[in-house]
Amino acid sequence: MKKQWWKESVVYQIYPRSFMDSNGDGIGDIQGIISKLDYLQELGIDVVWLSPVYDSPNDDNGYDISDYRNIMHEFGSMADWEEMLGEMHKRGIKLVMDLVVNHSSDEHAWFIESRKSKENVYREYYIWREGKDGKEPNNWESVFSGSAWKYDDQTGEYYLHLFSQKQPDLNWENPQLRSEIYDMMKFWLDKGIDGFRMDVINFISKVPGLPDAPNPEGKPYASGHDYFMNGPRIHEFLQEMNEKVLSRYDAMTVGEMPGVTPEEAELYTGNDRNELNMVFQFEHMDVDSGAGGKWDVIPFDLPKLKEILTKWQTGLHGKGWNSLYWNNHDQPRVVSRFGNDSEYRVESAKMLGTLLHMMQGTPYIYQGEELGMTNVRFESIDDYQDIETLNMFKEKVQEGKAPEDIMASIYTKGRDNARTPMQWNATENAGFTAGTPWLQVNPNYKAINAEAAMKDPQSIFHFYKQLIELRKMNPIIPYGSFELLHGDHPTLYAYIRRYEGEELLVVGNVSNETGLFEAPEDVKINEEEKRILISNYGVEKMESAQRFELKPWEVRVYKYPAN
Ligand code: NOJ
Repeated sequence: MKKQWWKESVVYQIYPRSFMDSNGDGIGDIQGIISKLDYLQELGIDVVWLSPVYDSPNDDNGYDISDYRNIMHEFGSMADWEEMLGEMHKRGIKLVMDLVVNHSSDEHAWFIESRKSKENVYREYYIWREGKDGKEPNNWESVFSGSAWKYDDQTGEYYLHLFSQKQPDLNWENPQLRSEIYDMMKFWLDKGIDGFRMDVINFISKVPGLPDAPNPEGKPYASGHDYFMNGPRIHEFLQEMNEKVLSRYDAMTVGEMPGVTPEEAELYTGNDRNELNMVFQFEHMDVDSGAGGKWDVIPFDLPKLKEILTKWQTGLHGKGWNSLYWNNHDQPRVVSRFGNDSEYRVESAKMLGTLLHMMQGTPYIYQGEELGMTNVRFESIDDYQDIETLNMFKEKVQEGKAPEDIMASIYTKGRDNARTPMQWNATENAGFTAGTPWLQVNPNYKAINAEAAMKDPQSIFHFYKQLIELRKMNPIIPYGSFELLHGDHPTLYAYIRRYEGEELLVVGNVSNETGLFEAPEDVKINEEEKRILISNYGVEKMESAQRFELKPWEVRVYKYPAN
């Protein structure tokens, strides 16, 4: 397998709105980020993925871009951004920018022109269609509820928006649009950035004719996924982007790709494919979603999670590359989701971090994960800010669902769980802002914050620091093979990695009860030469690794020469 710097790196995701506010307006900003770069250097991460900082009316917190070449005023200026890049590079930290080109904002100059008339030169930058029988052009549902089409009076046609009405989809069929995007990418790469994270990049090619989606239940709108995920021209577009832009830079590229399989991921990331470096897929994030989708919460099923992650570990090995993550700005906090965020918060956060960081792929740490930040429960829907959550709430209330039940799903799955301000210290508003935060701080900040974590050698922060270091010291972590043990076990997560005559044994207890690990007959652990790489409880040196008891949420990683 080819060695690459981005296979050996650990990425830290910053959601700028919630990271650090330097000027007291309640909104995180670039100077705030600069003030925390020493903290990131101390943690030891290699790359920052910065969620969008471009000009935006913030209908979807920056994922609706009105000017791709300027910085959002609330976040600072281009000079601030340049200073930030310089300060990152000085500390050996690379910067990966968010590239949101499936859609723009409806306030982007292209769209303002495009909607003016059917003859406008920018008309074909977006996807306009006539209505069908006095209704939308097709029955696709927006990811953010309701129809994916919006009628526009000025020309009497509809435009497609897979996300909010203020996020019109760009028309990648138009070569002129594609070439503008490539120029814009070069603009940032020439400024010295180190790569792009590409927002829902596998949505950019739509099936021609935009056919209606099957709708057996006769709902008002239906999921059009099959007509825009991994669409017919997607590989052609990415290969063109690669040829025209990416191949000319040493850039790391990660494609956010809902609904992708390992077989498709191989096409997106295979060595000889000239597309992207890695995918960022969601299959393991759907493990607690029922047939009704994300808000239809079902109990967490560990064997199912193991099955999914194993499929990715073995399916892409030697063929392509995947990201490893438990959290991002769209997901609830993992310690609340798969761990125990009360009695065993510290133990379970460390255990989950270990299970993930010992796998193959590029790990992503989402801000606050290294502190074990938890989900939040705001009393009223009015305390929430996220457009996805607010639209869904409105829609479900209209359908007659009980508000308490909707709130329960928001507590478990809502995106604002990830977006509460970063908890820096125990002072008011967690030290995030001197003003009023745009989204309330999680009230547990007095106990859970960076200052306290940095002082405590047993903290999750220091443990994550170790996990990051281990990846650097042990090529078996990025490059080894993977074998799952005891796949059906309801509470143990165990696997073996193998590489050049060495083995790693990883065993975690995903439970509030004690557990017992016994290596299967055919697995022989080298007891004589084994050593503990990392663990979240003390381990006796003499203790057997072949068979041992685990405390609640205990995790151990052994390394030894293969027998
Ligand atoms: C995925 C992003 O991660 C999410 O935050 C955003 O709302 C959608 N794409 C639309 O850009």
